[in-house]
Amino acid sequence: KPSLEVEFCGRLYENPLMNASGVCCMTTDDLDSMARSRSGAFITKSATSTDRAGNPEPRYVTVPLGSINSMGLPNKGIEYYLNYVLDRQKRFPSENPPFMSVAGMGIDENIKLLNIIQDSEFSGITELNLSCPNVPGKPQVAYDFELTDRTLKSVFQFFTKPLGVKLPPFFDFAHFDDMASILNKYPLAYVNCINSVGNGLYIDVEKESVVIKPKDGFGGIGGEYIKPTALANVRAFYTRLNENIKIIGTGGIRTGQDAFEHLLCGATMLQIGTELQNEGTGIFERINTELLQILEQKGYQSIEDFRGKLHSIT
Ligand code: DOR
Repeated sequence: KPSLEVEFCGRLYENPLMNASGVCCMTTDDLDSMARSRSGAFITKSATSTDRAGNPEPRYVTVPLGSINSMGLPNKGIEYYLNYVLDRQKRFPSENPPFMSVAGMGIDENIKLLNIIQDSEFSGITELNLSCPNVPGKPQVAYDFELTDRTLKSVFQFFTKPLGVKLPPFFDFAHFDDMASILNKYPLAYVNCINSVGNGLYIDVEKESVVIKPKDGFGGIGGEYIKPTALANVRAFYTRLNENIKIIGTGGIRTGQDAFEHLLCGATMLQIGTELQNEGTGIFERINTELLQILEQKGYQSIEDFRGKLHSIT
């Protein structure tokens, strides 16, 4: 029987599946349910310095081909999530610690959040979210290449723990090239492609209305809609980044085949948002089973046999 084990940042994980930050990770109850699930790892909701209520409801809607959200980073604040992960580290010293996600409202807050993590006992992996599309008046950081470079430059002056960045989708080879050459300057553990596709608009035709309240209905799109864009970003960064920067693939994973496609493009870990929200934590068992079946059918013993080995047409 093949194995779904993966090595990531020097640690071994039973399988590559995780929640995407934002789904099933706001409260300690959510996080405990991720810990009990068959996911290989899990991550906290993107934290800010203090707790945030987020945008007015309705702010997340499931639609036929995915989801639209404008949550606006509701979260319980960095101390809450840090306490949770430190408590788990103490109680389960042999387990991999959860990943922590942070999303400051600007460069200063990002530096502050990462200083708190640096000065703590946290021994796990941190994800810096540079791609939230939903806070009114706050553009997605990673669409500003100069700001991204400046942010990473300040971060790596002091941050010595494993750090990944969560990127928004890019749609042009010039942007893939420019962003990759910035990221390649830094000792990043990984790049997570992609956050939701920002500022889409979903319409209820009967009501002739938008479906979410914040930002006149504009919100981040997830799910089936975004899989080709997610795969393109995974592939584009896998083929451009230094070998020591791993890729987390996020976007449109609903089946074992979707997971396989992300791995073929070069992803090491895989995150699930929209479909986890729809299905609950039972999804991890299902996707693991479906992915294992694909490996068996194809005669692969492990993910390493095919990761990144997507064929071109010659
Ligand atoms: O789609 C998203 N929604 N991406 C983020 O990074 C943040 C989240 C939110 O809270 O709005």
